[in-house]
Amino acid sequence: MKKITVIPGDGIGKEVMDAGINILDGLNLNFDFIEAEAGFFCFEKNGTTLPEETIKYCEKSSATLFGAITSTPNEKSPILELRKKLDVFANLRPVKSFDGIKSLFNNLDFLIIRENTEGLYSQIESFEEDENKAIANRVITKKASTKICDFAFKKAIEDNRKKITCVHKANALKKTDGIFKESFYKIANSYSNKYPQIIANDYYIDAMAMYLITKPQEFDVVVTTNLFGDILSDEGAGLVGGLGLSPSANIGDKNGLFEPVHGSAPDIAGKQIANPIAMILSISMMLDFLNEKYFSNLIELAVRNVLKDNKVLTPDLGGKSKTMDLANAIKNELKNLI
Ligand code: NAI
Ligand code: MG
Repeated sequence: MKKITVIPGDGIGKEVMDAGINILDGLNLNFDFIEAEAGFFCFEKNGTTLPEETIKYCEKSSATLFGAITSTPNEKSPILELRKKLDVFANLRPVKSFDGIKSLFNNLDFLIIRENTEGLYSQIESFEEDENKAIANRVITKKASTKICDFAFKKAIEDNRKKITCVHKANALKKTDGIFKESFYKIANSYSNKYPQIIANDYYIDAMAMYLITKPQEFDVVVTTNLFGDILSDEGAGLVGGLGLSPSANIGDKNGLFEPVHGSAPDIAGKQIANPIAMILSISMMLDFLNEKYFSNLIELAVRNVLKDNKVLTPDLGGKSKTMDLANAIKNELKNLI
């Protein structure tokens, strides 16, 4: 039996996690769920946003599901910490269009791969001059840059993709992003003989922010540093129907952590109207990681069919349905497909 750690977190994290577990309950998978705490309410209760016990559960599990957390004013971000502690160095954020969903573009299918362990999210910040000055360290190492770029090429080969775009700001951040860009082209060169069909190119982050809107069809795999990947993936979500539809996978050599791209959405929390699809597609990515490819593909297909049908939609998609109504529609579609 595979152990899965489940961290619902705060706000809509809990609501979309309930919906996601409802989907998993409908499948005949031999999983043992262990619930663990993190986030704002966890801090109020335990004085920490990320208890040691939670980290231990995740380390011992086959995979972890994470909902979303609300940030606390002074504590480190538990999700950034957890990704680092589990060394899930690659954050995969697919940007894929859905038939039936009104969005800026149709027929998009690219993958943003975000470095997950360092960069401006190293969480090394300090005050100086009586708190009149604050400094954040942006750590970029050759080791982590090489590892994420190599991962991007391997993933591109595995998924039969044809192009990898490195995004950086090496003109301004000459040393840190200098290392990232250089590591990217070293890896690209090492693959170029065996895989000449894969094109490697690069853009500055500011230009990339524009190209994602003016010519998103051009992208296939995008590899970038931690903060840039965070920003670009929300932009990517905006291209294909919003945060309610955008899943992610955090992959390491030993661990996998799966979570929607969105946060705890305090503006809609408690109303049971959050879109559960980002969570459900994150579960599909977890099943792929756990080699349950049949069920992984089936969940994505069920989601696509329900969206195409356009009858049961949450308010972010223009409908009036509740979180569990949409989850149940997907669960029923799964039953039809099996
Ligand atoms: P957010 O992603 O929670 O929400 C942004 C907007 O998208 C809101 O209008 C929200 O209602 C909407 N939205 C997000 N997910 C949705 C869904 N599933 N269905 C329908 N609408 C959805 O980002 P925001 O508001 O900037 O941050 C809220 C809190 O979440 C903050 O405390 C932030 O620090 C935290 N956060 C946590 C993350 C995580 O746990 N991984 C990631 C991003 C933010
Ligand atoms: Mg984000």
